[in-house]
Amino acid sequence: MQRASRPKRPIWLGDDPTIVHVIDQRQLPHHLVVAPLRTVDEMIIAIQEMYVRGAPLIGVSGAYGTMLAAIAATHHNEPLAFFKAECDRLKAARPTAVNLAWAVDRALEATAAATSPAELVEITRELAADIAEEEVENCRRIGQHGVELIRALSERKDGGTVNILTHCNAGWLACVEWGTATAPVYAAAAAGLDVHVWVDETRPLNQGARLTAWELGRQGVPHTVITDNAGGHLMQHGRVDLVIVGTDRTTHTGDVANKIGTYLKALAAHDNEVPFYVALPSSTFDWQMRDGLAEIPIEERDPDEVRQIQGLVDGEVRTVLVPPLDSPAGNYAFDVTPSRLVTGFITERGICGASEAEIHRLFPDK
Ligand code: MRU
Repeated sequence: MQRASRPKRPIWLGDDPTIVHVIDQRQLPHHLVVAPLRTVDEMIIAIQEMYVRGAPLIGVSGAYGTMLAAIAATHHNEPLAFFKAECDRLKAARPTAVNLAWAVDRALEATAAATSPAELVEITRELAADIAEEEVENCRRIGQHGVELIRALSERKDGGTVNILTHCNAGWLACVEWGTATAPVYAAAAAGLDVHVWVDETRPLNQGARLTAWELGRQGVPHTVITDNAGGHLMQHGRVDLVIVGTDRTTHTGDVANKIGTYLKALAAHDNEVPFYVALPSSTFDWQMRDGLAEIPIEERDPDEVRQIQGLVDGEVRTVLVPPLDSPAGNYAFDVTPSRLVTGFITERGICGASEAEIHRLFPDK
């Protein structure tokens, strides 16, 4: 995909392959800042404080975190035990996106037979790069499959604008390239289809207004930022043809954890017969959990993220307090949309319905 300026990915290794570079997404869209990460502690902070975010990118970051752990292990008396303990710390950095544990477990598996710290470093560096490339290819394929949904809607509307609503940021910033929910949109725009995206602002951290709007704008995709509560109204008036969202963890029975507010969009879509699709690479399926509502851990974050809001004032990014100084706030970062409200999944292997049988039909090997 083309973008106006560098960097082209949210994570990469620089000339010095012991330093991981990430876009500090907290600063976007007003400042494009790159943060160098040299230690596991720095990687954990980057994941927890959301310099890096979005399920696939959290997975890739976790994988690069294992490389940083391996580098640190070279200075340790018991390198293998130290490496494993650092991997456990990485896995605990954020609870909801299954990609983090998935990527770190892959690193543990790949290094199980390693006998020296040097071997650990080589294996984890290669694995992290491989996982990043796999996710790029997965997202590209999600785009290829998902564009067919948009094409069908475009044909039904005689080439009229297809209005797609999305929540949070499931774009290339959240992945490595293309994005999950945005990949079909980019593919549709590239195919000359007339698309327009309703971008939920996505309080409290405004990943939609800050990140999705920035991405779409740089790609020249028509879009409109709306409040989180506007989607139902737009659906009632026939102004949404399709909802596509990403996910942090989807059970193999089809329950979807995604950014808080996704469930309400799914309810509104169901009530208005608007198709509601979830785009995800197979790394975001949880092949163990069956009951999303009961089992998926939902992250609760600092209430100040709800109490405060950040924006540009006179050329400077400032944070302001919204509610009364002494009002408590609750910050539930994700919710679970039950499979019955999901029309289907767009995966790298194709599109399937939201049921255990349909998911396993696409992924018989899991
Ligand atoms: O808290 P965030 O910004 O990490 O939450 C991200 C989301 O909810 C995304 O929709 C999800 O991770 C899918 S990213 C392709």
